[in-house]
Amino acid sequence: MAIESSRNPGAFRDFEHDGWETVSVGYERHFARLTTQTVPAILDAAHVAEGMRVLDVCTGPGMLAGAAVKRGAQVVALDFSGKVIEIARRNVPGAEFRQGDAQALPFEADSFDSVVCGYGIIHVPEPQKALSEIRRVLKPEGFLAASVWEAAKPGNGFGLLFGAIRKHGDLNVPLPHGPDFFQFSEPDKLKAAIQEIEFRDAAVETVEQTWELADPLGVITAILEGGVRARALLCAQTEDVRNSISAAVVEGMRQYRSSDGVYRVPMPALVGSGRK
Ligand SMILES: C[S@@+](CC[C@H](N)C(=O)[O-])C[C@H]1O[C@@H](n2cnc3c(N)ncnc32)[C@H](O)[C@@H]1O
Repeated sequence: MAIESSRNPGAFRDFEHDGWETVSVGYERHFARLTTQTVPAILDAAHVAEGMRVLDVCTGPGMLAGAAVKRGAQVVALDFSGKVIEIARRNVPGAEFRQGDAQALPFEADSFDSVVCGYGIIHVPEPQKALSEIRRVLKPEGFLAASVWEAAKPGNGFGLLFGAIRKHGDLNVPLPHGPDFFQFSEPDKLKAAIQEIEFRDAAVETVEQTWELADPLGVITAILEGGVRARALLCAQTEDVRNSISAAVVEGMRQYRSSDGVYRVPMPALVGSGRK
C-alpha cells in the first residue's frame, strides 16, 4: 500500500497548525469525551503498564497521556501547537510535555517502550514520515498503537456529515492539499500501513463509540468549533449551501434520537498496533 502524502507538505502543515491553534478549546469541548472512549483500547494495544516510558504523539488535550500516567507509566506527550500543549499541561500535571512535529520527533532513537497516537496520523502531511519517526524512537520490541476514524459510511457520524456535504455542497474547495483523511479507515489499509513501516505483529481492532449530543446540529457545531479540515470545508461553502447541509444533518440525526431526547451517534474508530 502506498501511503498518501500531501502534494504541498509545508502549506498543509501550516494550515493544520493554524487550525489547531484556533480550535484547541473547541476540540476539547466537543471531541475529548468522544476520543476518550478510544483510550483503553489504545493503551492496551500498546501494552502500556507501570514503569514503562511512553510517548503520546499528537496529544491534543492529553487524554491518552493522562490515562497512561494513571497506569503508572512515565509519560512524555508531544504536540506542535503551543495552545494545545497549554491545555494538556493543565489537564495532566504528571506528564512531561514537548512542543514539536510528529514528523521530526525530538527524541533519541530507541528511547520509548511504547508510542501511542490518537487520531494524529490523519492530520500530518506525510504520515509515512510520522510512522517512521515513531518506529525510530521505539526501543526494539516496543509497541505502537494509533487510532483513526472508521470510514465515513451510512450509519456513522462522518457518513452523515460528508453525505450531506457531498449532496448539497462542494468537496473540491481550494484548501492546501492534504492526504485522504480516510486513507487508513479500513482495517486492511491500516494494517498494511503499519506493515509498510516494518512493524511486526500488525493488528487492527474496531472500537464502537457513541457521540452523545443534546442538539441535532451538534455535529456541525463541533466541526465548526473544534475541527480543522472539515471546518475549513464547511466555512468555504456559501451560507445557503451551509444551511442546506445543516438541514440535511438535522434530518439525518432523527434516526439517532433516543427516548430521553439525546442523540447517540455511532463514531467507530480503528486502533492499529504493531511491534518494532
Ligand atoms: C485530532 S487531535 C487528537 C488529539 C488527541 N490525541 C485525541 O485522541 O483526541 C490531533 C492533534 O494533533 C496535533 N497535530 C497535528 N499535526 C501535528 C504534527 N505534524 N505534529 C505534532 N502534532 C500535530 C494537533 O495539534 C492536535 O492536537
